Amino acid sequence: MPRRVTVAKVADIPDGGNVVVSVLQRDVAIFNVKGEFFAIDDFCPHMGASLSGGYVEDGCVTCPWHFWRFRLADGAWDDNPKVKIGAYPIHVDGADVQLELPDV
Ligand code: FES
Repeated sequence: MPRRVTVAKVADIPDGGNVVVSVLQRDVAIFNVKGEFFAIDDFCPHMGASLSGGYVEDGCVTCPWHFWRFRLADGAWDDNPKVKIGAYPIHVDGADVQLELPDV
């Protein structure tokens, strides 16, 4: 059964902002896009840039180094969706932002 962990407070992630949390031995970037939250690995598979430093537009974050674009909803590389980074279900419970962890 999936389990949820509180990783931030809603107030910590303003609209248009993000935070990076360490969960399951990886860094996960949590984005707030107009009140909707998304969580993807904070790691670009091209050369390892931090995606939390990227630019968000049209449901994608653009890597700050070489501009690969990843969909926030599912972590797919927008130019070749067969390539994916981790994307995690995220929930708001009152003031808490909770990440749903995969079964391991
Ligand atoms: S490191 Fe992200 S596109 Fe190159």
